[in-house]
Amino acid sequence: MRCVDYQKVLNVVRRYARNHYGRRIPQRKQSGTHGYRHVRTVENISVYIAGNILSERELTLLRIASLLHDCIRMPGDFDQRDHAAESAEYAGTLLRKMGLDKDDVEAVKTAIAEHSGRKWSSRISEMLWIADKAEQISPFAPFRRAMFVGEHIRSSSKPLEEEQAFDILLGLYEKRMRKLENFPERIREILGNIPDMNRYFYGEIVDNGQESWVWEMSWFAINQGYKNIEDILAFREYVRSINKMKENKRHEKYASLVRAYLLRWADAEPDIL
Ligand SMILES: [Fe+2]
Ligand SMILES: [Fe+2]
Repeated sequence: MRCVDYQKVLNVVRRYARNHYGRRIPQRKQSGTHGYRHVRTVENISVYIAGNILSERELTLLRIASLLHDCIRMPGDFDQRDHAAESAEYAGTLLRKMGLDKDDVEAVKTAIAEHSGRKWSSRISEMLWIADKAEQISPFAPFRRAMFVGEHIRSSSKPLEEEQAFDILLGLYEKRMRKLENFPERIREILGNIPDMNRYFYGEIVDNGQESWVWEMSWFAINQGYKNIEDILAFREYVRSINKMKENKRHEKYASLVRAYLLRWADAEPDIL
């Protein structure tokens, strides 16, 4: 049996992913919601939730799957195509070329193919699903949803009024939160109080309550849509400049969480959860 240097394969895949999500797919630029930052964050979350559960080999395959799980997904796709199946095929071809063993390639392909459904045939699949959904409902979620709206506006090139954007954003949020309520108990345990923080954040958007920066920031995200690297740098400066986050003492802790997450996301190489 051949001895695979998993660490080396992981490093090659990560380098590949950075290039792929950023530039390789024509017209794609860097998707704000399904680009390199998303998959890199999913990889970090994978390590966080599965580090003590999976074997070393499984964990590395999970990290590889995390990095490639949305490799065929364009802004504006919505659900018209099965991006999970297409990404699995693409990743399989790539990993075979990189010399990964057949069983390992199959394990990664299965995890990617199963990341948007609710049936998992391995622990790697289940962990990828959790990590992907956790990234989508983190303290970053409202901002991420807003950016998702922006991506679709850009891809359909229809201008949108602030009020329409607001309605779409809330619709997406409600859909996401309904899904969350049906998450298995074990997953909700892993996610802790994140859903409550989300509810609070969205509540502030709805009421335009004490935290006006929430909607201001979401509107910024909608207008940014998907991003190239220059946008990301501008975005980082923007988040740093929102001092209003600090004004309300009661929510200071939450605001700083959101800010920390956004800044980490905006970094070219986020390295910890
Ligand atoms: Fe996906
Ligand atoms: Fe994803």
